[in-house]
Amino acid sequence: MNLAEISTLLLHGESGHRNSFTDGYFFDSGILYGNLDAEISRIICGIDVGAEEIITTDRFKTNACSDLLLSHHPEGRFARGILNVIDCQRTLLLSMGLQQKKIDAVIDKLKTELIAHYNSCNLLRIESFCEMLETQMMCLHTPADTLAKEYLDSLFENHDLTLGSIISRINLIPECKISEKFCGTKSEILFGSGDDKAGKIFFMVTGGTSLPNELYENLSDSGVETIAAQYFSNSDIETAKKCGINVISLDHIAIDSLGMNLALDAVRRKGIPIIPISGFISVDRT
Ligand SMILES: [Fe+2]
Repeated sequence: MNLAEISTLLLHGESGHRNSFTDGYFFDSGILYGNLDAEISRIICGIDVGAEEIITTDRFKTNACSDLLLSHHPEGRFARGILNVIDCQRTLLLSMGLQQKKIDAVIDKLKTELIAHYNSCNLLRIESFCEMLETQMMCLHTPADTLAKEYLDSLFENHDLTLGSIISRINLIPECKISEKFCGTKSEILFGSGDDKAGKIFFMVTGGTSLPNELYENLSDSGVETIAAQYFSNSDIETAKKCGINVISLDHIAIDSLGMNLALDAVRRKGIPIIPISGFISVDRT
């Protein structure tokens, strides 16, 4: 398969139209550097890819193989693409029952902060490493995160479950079991007790950034009783407590790996080997 075919498969899935969101969905994902016609024989996949991984991939090169270095977290112009991806949150929050006006006010403010942030960043750094070492590189962020969210949503459609039973089930996901075994990390309840009913759960694992504090109260008003996410600041946890929302901290790297594996199964089925690097936990579900 050539780079263009692999990129299409990773971004759009085998059906060619795998996406729940339309606005900004792909802005943080795509080919950062490479030749679309190049035949790819291996994918070296990592969660965070920087100069170390690009140099490692270069050292790993053989004459017989043409590698694609794949990063989950976006780099270069795809990092700035988060600015567009957060528009996905408007759709996501609308689907949770929040009001459009409130969502727009908060997301617009967040976008202004992000514009200031990314204008201060050196976005060509990683791409220039790739160019110098002729390393083909791609990022796959929100499409993979969305697969992980859909997986978690489908596991917990039943709102009668307790927080304890949800945690136990999440920690049985193969990526989570491996992460606990080797790193000791696992998903945990940060607020609420194991016997509490979870009620309506919001899995905040896509959309490019964590949920702004200003929206917790609206989330509670819309009937959400539990929020589960990969990152919480202290102020997120305090705000959730004030709003009476249970908090589940998900194992970030395990859940990122889950989303990547769900996307990578399409290329595994085409016989392309996946070599893990940079914390990625490879699990083959084909
Ligand atoms: Fe992540």
